[in-house]
Amino acid sequence: MDNRSIGIFDSGLGGLTSVCEIIKILPNENIVYFGDTGRVPYGSRSVETIVKYVRQDINFLQSFNVKIIISACGTASSVALPVVKKDYEIELMSVLEPSFIKASKVTINKKIGILGTERTIKSGRCVEILKNIDPEIVTVSKACPMFVPLVENGYVEGSVTSLIVEEYLNVLKQEIVDTIVLACTHFPLLKRAIKNCVGSNMKLIDSGKCVVEHAKDFLKANNMLSDNKGFGKIKYFVSDSCESFINSGKIFLKKDISGCVDQIEIEKY
Ligand code: DGL
Repeated sequence: MDNRSIGIFDSGLGGLTSVCEIIKILPNENIVYFGDTGRVPYGSRSVETIVKYVRQDINFLQSFNVKIIISACGTASSVALPVVKKDYEIELMSVLEPSFIKASKVTINKKIGILGTERTIKSGRCVEILKNIDPEIVTVSKACPMFVPLVENGYVEGSVTSLIVEEYLNVLKQEIVDTIVLACTHFPLLKRAIKNCVGSNMKLIDSGKCVVEHAKDFLKANNMLSDNKGFGKIKYFVSDSCESFINSGKIFLKKDISGCVDQIEIEKY
């Protein structure tokens, strides 16, 4: 038993898709969330900058003596975790591996689409993970740089969103993939728009959800689940104004989190 909090970070709001899953499947766990809203997006930045940011995100969460840290950001997981992992003793969980394991299990025609930020797709990390799982799987990758700003600004549906989704997903439709991995934690918010474009038979893998299922297995196997009675406490930290996080957070969490959010100076960590 371990009643310390689960630490979780993202460049902004995307990691809240994982927070929703923790609330569902590990409801009594305490959570410390950091959203680097002052420096979002990570996906269009250099590897060096993302590595620096991710080290600061991890250092900040470690100041709460958390028991594990979930990198609920596809970009951080693809380019920074492989570099920084060796420097930390704490279990750092990537949002990517669990979703590709799931995708390899559900695909029937062994053709998998991968959607991510520019940096995630360019890193080639997702393809590498999948090839290690099953070399026969064919992948079709597409960077979707407009998706994060759409989500951050609340454009999760409507005509503008549909047009952009259509533009990005055309190539996956042509290649006849049967499974698509949403390798960015912002993208599950666009699920409905994506389904409208590719049809309801397409299997969409939500990376934010898969990593939480993996975290549950890990905590259980290591006797680290919390034995708190009742719902866990959730504390949110951001590097820009709390107000906009609270407002946009409603879209992800479908509840009011005012009073639970504080702004910090991440450059100090
Ligand atoms: N949620 C991040 C990811 O999963 C968003 C990317 C960004 O900040 O550009 O990649």
